[in-house]
Parts: sequence; C-alpha cells; structure tokens
Amino acid sequence: MNGLAERLQSLSDEALAKIGAATGASELEEIEKTILGRKGELALLMRGIGGLEPSERGPFGKAVNEAKGAIAAALGERKDSFEAARMSSELDDPHFDPTEPTPEHAVGHLHPITKVRREVEEIFLRMGFDVTDGPEVETEEFNFDLLNIPSHHPARDLQDTFWLDSGHVLRTHTSCVQLRAMIARGGKPPIRVIAPGRVFRNEQPDATHEHTFHQVEGLMLDEGVSVADLKGVLTTFLSRLFGQACEVRLRPHYFPFVEPGFELDVRRAGSKGEWLELMGCGMVHPNVLRAGGVDADRISGFAFGIGLDRVAMMRYGIDDIRWMMSGDPRFLSQF
Ligand code: DAH
Repeated sequence: MNGLAERLQSLSDEALAKIGAATGASELEEIEKTILGRKGELALLMRGIGGLEPSERGPFGKAVNEAKGAIAAALGERKDSFEAARMSSELDDPHFDPTEPTPEHAVGHLHPITKVRREVEEIFLRMGFDVTDGPEVETEEFNFDLLNIPSHHPARDLQDTFWLDSGHVLRTHTSCVQLRAMIARGGKPPIRVIAPGRVFRNEQPDATHEHTFHQVEGLMLDEGVSVADLKGVLTTFLSRLFGQACEVRLRPHYFPFVEPGFELDVRRAGSKGEWLELMGCGMVHPNVLRAGGVDADRISGFAFGIGLDRVAMMRYGIDDIRWMMSGDPRFLSQF
C-alpha cells in the first residue's frame, strides 16, 4: 500500500496519545485543527489515495474514516472531562454561592396611558363599538369648521392650536374622528365607534396641562338614539372602568358640535360624596351629522370625549400630567 496505511496508523496513534496528554481545552482545539481540519494531516494523507491501486482505494478510504471517527470521539470525551473538572472545581470553591440572586433584568412594561386606553377599548368593544382612529395632523376643516366650530370660537384662538405652514393643524381634540368615521361608513347607521389618540394644544405646560395629551372620542348613531342612551352607555362604561357601580350627572354645557351638550360628573352609586367632573358629551349637532353625510332628520346620536391622562392620573395617583410624556425612568419604573 506504498506506506500510506502505516502513515495512517502512526498518525492516528500519535493523535490519540496527544489527546491523552493534553492539559486543557485549548490544546484539544489545536489538535482538532491540525489533524481533522480541512487542511489537516488526515486530509493530506487522503490526497495520496490517487496513487493507490484501484482495489486498495476502498479499504484505505474506510481506514481513514475509522481513524477520523476514533480521533473525534477521543477529542469529545476529553473535552467533556475537562468541562466536568472545571465545573466541579467551581462548585467546590468556598466563594461560590448558588443561592445568590442573579442580577436583575429590566423587563419592559406598558405605559400607564396605554394600560388605561386598552381598558377603555376592551369595555367598549364588549358593548359593540369599533375602535378607530384618524390623523394627528388634521385639516382646519375637520378639526373646526365641520364640527360646527365658528371662526370666532375661543377653541380657534391661535394661542390654543399648533398651526403648520401648510395650513394644517395638530388636532386639538379627537372629535374630528367623528366626522371621519361617519364618512368612512357612508353616513349609514348604526355607527358605534370609539377613537383613542393623541391631541395637541399650544399650552404652557403645568401640573394639569400639557401640549400633548390623550383623549378617547365616542360616537353612537342610529334611529331614535336619545340622551337616555348616552347616560346608560356612559354609566355602564364608567362603572366598568372604575370597577364599582357609578352614578352620573349631566350638567348643560356648550360644545359647538353637540346640542344639547353636557359636562358629565360621576360618583360612586349611592354615595353622598363629591361629584367628579370627568368628560364632555352631548347629542351630535345636526350640522355635524350632515357634514358627515348622515340623514339628520332620521338619525340621531351621542358623542363624548374623555381625557385619558386624567383617568390614568386618578387610577395611579399621579399628581402631575407632565410626568406622562416625560419618558423619565424614575416615573415609568413605578408601573
Ligand atoms: N372635544 C372636546 C374637547 O376636546 C371634548 C368633547 C366634548 C367631545 C363634548 C365630545 C363632546 O364628543 O360631545 O374638549
């Protein structure tokens, strides 16, 4: 066999001897590379196969593979024993304390506004409402005109609104989504939607005012919808949100896009406690219905707008709205 078989035998004996004598894992890696590697000694030997008699090639190839298998197995065993030795010496170390807590991992979580928003969505979804939204950059038309807000209304005061050079506005409320929802549904009732989202006012921030905050708009339109429905739906909503039976009180209030319009106050059912002023609501103004393509002679309905930041502040005892958009980990890590 022109000496190839003998060279294979001695190579394999030598390799096994080196593996046996190795004192650490890095030595094993070196042996693996020089013997078994793509350009290693076994590969080199294998190249000589072409010089063999055809009848010898099969048996030689087989012998090389067997040698390879034996060396690989010896390497694996030796590696395992080094690893086991390393582990047991670490475990024997008197400084090793398996009861020591692992370093704490920072796990992300939802923002309080997101939590409250999801709760509100869940409640209305169960009452048959859809969740929808609209653009944060709105047209003056949708934010004001079509909502029956005349140009002399204080809400249009330049002080209150972020105007863009294009003439668009950062929406000052979610009420514009009422119109978008009506139009998207071809003005065809029943329409039951809520629209949570960010809104913007050109305010000097303080403990109760922010330039960026969150509202949920609600709209329910159908034949014969009345103030009784408004009161019923919102009482149910608030009772579920606060986790206790609530009663609500409506006080007349002017909002251009509803008639009549109300401020809604809430308190625990049966309590003689203080009323808490919570949201605006009312029966959608016929001008708004018409702007949304709804037949105002046949269809009526109610709308409401609630501030999510306020609800989250009550829920979690937060005393300053400016925390909400601060991104401050000292605040966020509390939830
Ligand atoms: N858009 C009003 C605001 O931002 C809130 C509001 C009041 C919404 C009455 C309504 C409503 O839908 O009927 O102050």
